[in-house]
Amino acid sequence: MSDHPSPKPGSSSSLSDGELLHAHEQAVADKTDDRGSYKLLPLVLLFTFSGLIFFGGTYLNLFSGHFDPRIFDERALPHTVDTSVKMDPVVYGKKLYESLCINCHQPTGLGVPGTFPPLAGSEWINGSEERIVRILENGLKGPITVKGMNFGTVPMPAVGAGGANWSDDKIAAVLTYVRQAFGNTSGPVTEEKVVEIHAKIGAHAEWSPEELLKLP
Ligand code: HEC
Repeated sequence: MSDHPSPKPGSSSSLSDGELLHAHEQAVADKTDDRGSYKLLPLVLLFTFSGLIFFGGTYLNLFSGHFDPRIFDERALPHTVDTSVKMDPVVYGKKLYESLCINCHQPTGLGVPGTFPPLAGSEWINGSEERIVRILENGLKGPITVKGMNFGTVPMPAVGAGGANWSDDKIAAVLTYVRQAFGNTSGPVTEEKVVEIHAKIGAHAEWSPEELLKLP
């Protein structure tokens, strides 16, 4: 048996349900906030939150990629991401041209008479892929003629391994770009073609015009 005194119904020490409710209602009614009334949500907060929701919605609409798993997959590991989608070689090639070739062959592709040969209308750039890929991979030490003009006072530096160390896909892209820029209308040079020629070359110093002119 417990020693706890349980209030007896109707005894003076306990309140009836009705009295309790009444006391509670009074206590609640007395409790006003510091200004004695409820305040409206400050307008500035309303605008701030509306603004944030609007910004968030617009942002997701523009940048969520419609939650397409091919665009964003937070569980993808770097080596499982599909990298087969490549940048347009002409766009990529233009960037590459502007990062290096432009210094000598000029923004116009016209070169500098007597020093840097033109790429615009050049029989080399519009000719055999076998030659131009080699020129870029390993460099060229003239003398050569381009559009009836003589060059060879300075060599063309290697752009591939041993020079600027560009990968085969960069060499393909820059050649593809140059072959359709400056009024040239020759077809693209594929990465596969550059890889194929590169494999045939092995390690090689800068080319002489005689070696190149023997090639098909
Ligand atoms: C440091 C200056 C320099 C840079 C940088 C340079 N070249 Fe050249 N390039 C030359 C010179 C000089 C020659 C001629 C060499 C000779 O006659 O021995 C030449 C020759 C060539 C030729 C063969 C001749 C012709 O006019 O068609 C091609 C093609 C060529 N360069 C493409 C490029 C490309 C593409 C790049 C950028 C990836 C590049 N060059 C970067 C100086 C440069």
